[in-house]
Parts: sequence; structure tokens; C-alpha cells
Amino acid sequence: MTWSPESWRSKTANQQPVYSNQSALDAAIARLNQLPPLVTSWEIHSLRQQLAEAEQGRAFVLQGGDCSESIDDCSTDSIVRNLKVLMQMSFVLTYGTKKQIIRIGRIAGQYAKPRSSSEETRGEVTLPVYRGDIINRSGFTKTEREPDPTLLLRGYEHAALTLNFIRALSAGGFADLHHPENWEMEFAKDSPRGKQYHSMVESITNSLQFMEKVLGTGIIASRGVEYFTSHEALHLTYEQAQTRTVPRRTGWYNLSTHFPWIGNRTRELEGAHLEYCRGIQNPIGVKVDAMIDGDELVELTKILNPQNEPGRITLIHRMGASKIEQQLPRLIEAIQSNDRRVLWVADPMHGNTFATDSGKKTRDFGQIVSELQSAFKVHTACGSRLGGVHLELTGENVTECVGGASQLTESDLDRAYKSAVDPRLNYDQAMEIAFSISDQIKSQNGNQK
Ligand code: PEP
Ligand code: CO
Repeated sequence: MTWSPESWRSKTANQQPVYSNQSALDAAIARLNQLPPLVTSWEIHSLRQQLAEAEQGRAFVLQGGDCSESIDDCSTDSIVRNLKVLMQMSFVLTYGTKKQIIRIGRIAGQYAKPRSSSEETRGEVTLPVYRGDIINRSGFTKTEREPDPTLLLRGYEHAALTLNFIRALSAGGFADLHHPENWEMEFAKDSPRGKQYHSMVESITNSLQFMEKVLGTGIIASRGVEYFTSHEALHLTYEQAQTRTVPRRTGWYNLSTHFPWIGNRTRELEGAHLEYCRGIQNPIGVKVDAMIDGDELVELTKILNPQNEPGRITLIHRMGASKIEQQLPRLIEAIQSNDRRVLWVADPMHGNTFATDSGKKTRDFGQIVSELQSAFKVHTACGSRLGGVHLELTGENVTECVGGASQLTESDLDRAYKSAVDPRLNYDQAMEIAFSISDQIKSQNGNQK
């Protein structure tokens, strides 16, 4: 079948909202078609090259952010905190691994969510489920749950505001390695990993200053960092509206994000999401759980990457701590025996979600760490390589996942549970994960020598 930005419409598209007002939808799409892109094809190609480096073990991906971004929470503070925590984590990872760290936020467009049911019932009332801020509203009234096409524009605008601020911060002094104090967090000082982090920062800045004094010149020329964006390419009408050609390049680009990914619930081989993604030039992520079989996975990589190009596909496995050691090897072997080029990334969050007795969705920090450790172990044992991690996290001091150094329990969850969908790691937990990954890569590198 010939691909076009709308060829997905001839396939089954799961998890799509049903709009009742077609002319309002058409008007919103027409406007989206006119608006300037959020990212450029140069950036997209640069990310693809860097992901190819990660495939070779020369770089490592740190992908993280909210499960679901909120338009109301689009504020200076939340953007700065998320950028800070990713900066600090990547600092730890660079120091520990000596690899280039590719920072990718789940940010500036992570507004559409797949749901397990299309309706939600509370008492006697049943309404359409909340599908993310770009589609409807989380309040439980008929009006709020009605898919609203104007939210496509609100989401797009907030993605643009967010990205504008991130670009300014990461290009200028904020992200300068000479001034890590810019990324301080006030509560970090008392956290267990905070102390370890500060002594590491001190030692790096001291040696950097020392070397620059001795040499009489700057060692690190650039005072900025690269920071890429990603979101689940779920709402295909929206994604299509930002799919463009660019001068002097062949092919189509999704210019709403650098790195779109296909969710685990929409990865059917015959489905609309694969059809849409196979035709764009962006690097593509695909979430896979323990249910996929090896042949299906190989077929999926052939559909999305017929030329078997490096950097094109990132497989993000999210198996669950109790399943990964049993289920991941057969997938790695299927990819290896068919010589498919992929980058493997571990998402230790989505296979480990459970509900507490009071009905709160949470995750146990111990299981998250355990799945990550197993991921490193399995890849090494199979002669493969884990090239990155995918995390739901925030720089805020929320209480959404239990466990970690500050030993949050189920009774702490009520204190600061803010996520509208999945539970995120808080600042301390995120830093602890960064140190744990860095230790594992160090020991892996040691083993390889
Ligand atoms: C997510 O990343 O928020 C998500 C829904 O993941 P998955 O597709 O792996 O279930
Ligand atoms: Co999630």
C-alpha cells in the first residue's frame, strides 16, 4: 500500500476520540496545518544519528518525564524542575558511564493517553474516559469529558510554550557545565543521593576549573546542552496535522516532536499507528510488553524499518520485574537471529503498576530497580546491549511510587499524589535510579574489559 500522511485512515485506529462536532474538528486541523513546526528536520536527523551511536554502545538514552502532561501545570516551575532533574541525572550518568547521554523528555506534547476502557463509571453515572489534555478534560462531568477539538490547539500551543522555554534554558547559561549550581533543587540537599551528587559535582567543577586555569582556555566550548522531545504518537489526527515535507530533503517528517513512540496498546502490525509511523523520517520508539512474540516483533521492525537502518527503531521493553528474565531473552534472540538493527531501551515503570487497597495506582521502587537490573543482566547474557532507560518522573517532591531511600509507604501516597494517570518517580527516587544505572553500567564495562 502506498504511504501518505493519511493512509493510516484506511486501517483500524484504536484509542482515538470520537468528536461530535466535525466542523469544529476541521477548523482546528486547518489551523494546526498552518502553524509553524515545533522541531526541525536537522534536529530529527541529529537524534537519529545519536540513537545509532547508542546502538553501538557509545551513547546512552535517558528518556523521562510525566506520564501525562497537564496544560494547567504548564508553568515555569514544573518545566524548570523537570529539566533540572534530567540534567542532574544525566550528569550522574555521564560521570559514571563516560558515555554521551542522550536526553529525551517526555515533554512538550505528551498530552494523549491510551486507556484500558473507553468509559468510566462512578456510582450511577457513566461518561467517556479521560484521554489526556489534548482530547478532553479530567473532571467528571459530561461537558468536561466531551472530546473538544479546540484542545488540539491548546495542547499544541502549550507544547510550543514549553519547548520555547526549554530551548532558551538549554542553549544559554542554565545548562552550562561550569555552573551546575543553576540546576540545584532546594530539597536536594537533605536527600541521601543529594549528598553524593553534590560531592560529585564539586569534584567535577573543581577539576574543570583547575584544567581551564592551567590551560588558560575553556575545555568545554559549548555552554548549552542538547535536549530532545518525545511523546506517544497516539492521536493520529493531531500527528498527521504536523506531518510535513521540508525543502531539500525527501520524505515526510512529524515536526511536532523529535521522537514519537508507538504505545504498547496500539502496536498491532495491521493497525493505523504502525501505518502512520512507517512513513515518517523521525526515529520511532515502540513499547513492547511480554505478550509479543518473536516473529511478530521481527515483522514489526521490518514494517517500520525495511532498509534496516541504524537509529531508526528503539524497542522499549516494559515487561514487569517478575517477567523480564523469562520473556526478554526470546525477543532479543529473535531480533539477533534476523539481524534486525534496533536500540533496546528499558521502561521499568509500566510493567510494575498496581493499585493499593484504597484504589491508588502506584509502583514499588524496589521492583523498578529490580526490572532495570534484570534488563542489564539479560542483555549482557544474550550478547546484546541495553542502550537506555525510559522513566516516568518529575522533579517535584510527589508521593506517587512507594519505596526508595525515603521509604515512602502506601499511607504517604495521599500526601502529594498529583499525576492524573500513572505514578511517577519523585526527585529523590529519580536520582537514586540514576546512581543505580550508573553503577550497573560501570560494572558491565568492568566485566567487558
Ligand atoms: C506510557 O508510556 O505512559 C504508556 C501508556 O505506556 P505503554 O504503552 O508501555 O503502556
Ligand atoms: Co504512563
